[in-house]
Amino acid sequence: MAYDPVVSKPAADGGTQRTPILVDCDTGIDDSLALLYAVASPDCDLVAVTCTSGNVDARQVAENTRAVLELAGRSDVEVAIGRETPLERALVTTPETHGPRGIGYAELPPARMPLSPRFGPDLIVEEARRRPGELTLVTLAPLTNVALAVLSEPKLPRLLRRIVIMGGSYRSPGNTAPTTEWNVNVDPEAAKIVFEAFDADGAEGSGVGSTGPGSTRPIALGLDVTERAKLLPHHLAEIAARAGCSPDGGGPDGRTNPVIRYLADALRFYMEFHSRYDHFFGAFIHDPLALATAIDPTLVRTEPVTVDVELDGRLTTGETVADWRRVWGRPPNVDVAVEADAGRFFERFIERVGDLARG
Ligand code: RIB
Ligand code: CA
Repeated sequence: MAYDPVVSKPAADGGTQRTPILVDCDTGIDDSLALLYAVASPDCDLVAVTCTSGNVDARQVAENTRAVLELAGRSDVEVAIGRETPLERALVTTPETHGPRGIGYAELPPARMPLSPRFGPDLIVEEARRRPGELTLVTLAPLTNVALAVLSEPKLPRLLRRIVIMGGSYRSPGNTAPTTEWNVNVDPEAAKIVFEAFDADGAEGSGVGSTGPGSTRPIALGLDVTERAKLLPHHLAEIAARAGCSPDGGGPDGRTNPVIRYLADALRFYMEFHSRYDHFFGAFIHDPLALATAIDPTLVRTEPVTVDVELDGRLTTGETVADWRRVWGRPPNVDVAVEADAGRFFERFIERVGDLARG
């Protein structure tokens, strides 16, 4: 069924410190939840969104992204398409995970907001140049657009305030092959380029190599932590209750809450998938945890480590190989999240998305 858009919410009051964020996504169900969380967060300034292929093809991603932003009353956010295929490999999508159109059983009105005329990688570079040191780039998809951006502008690691990557698996099994995670698996060449671009030998003056809070290495959230963001039916019920309706979106006045109905229809598909493949009726919401971490890095604990990407493995192509014992003797190039405060994350997710839905 189609929904009416939520009434646009005013921007946060002047008192809230807002983190300017660029999102690169392959909207999909958990990407859409991350976008809703970004729009619902008073401490987030969603500057623009770039789209690439992954869960579904880039054109469908761009349609889903705009439709979800319109549902949340944010048709003002610029959405651009980037590269539509991986750098070297044939595109593989995952309709079995997110549905043929990428939003499960949900139906959204066709997007009315225009697609940006800018090419996604160009938008990333142009916005980083326009606001040097200010923007946090959050990647929720294969790293194709980000690789093209850093190839066109090698100074990108210095121009960005930070990059937060949902991708890889550093101490845990993969979700696409035994040792590979989906975003990296779709475009391993792109991931290798991005991880190398932030290598200590790469961008001088980027602060790479510094440890602790001053680090500007990428923060990478792999399956090690994102599979702790396990959304269960009671979480959806709590979001719905906060919005004043039932978990299927039905309101006391007989009207349907459009955001809750979207969540119910999209997540039902995603939970059925997890039932089959991960043997629980719920959903790993990888992308919202990454987005929330970009806004508040205290949600995770990271450890600096040298990471490289396997490109030629018979069984392991796309593996993010983490040198925890430092046998390579190369400086760390990634701050890998090793712990996440899932409880605090879900408290915020429920509160913010529930309030957004309430309107
Ligand atoms: O492996 C999980 C990641 O792959 C998430 O970003 C999900 O949306 C898919 O893109
Ligand atoms: Ca994604």
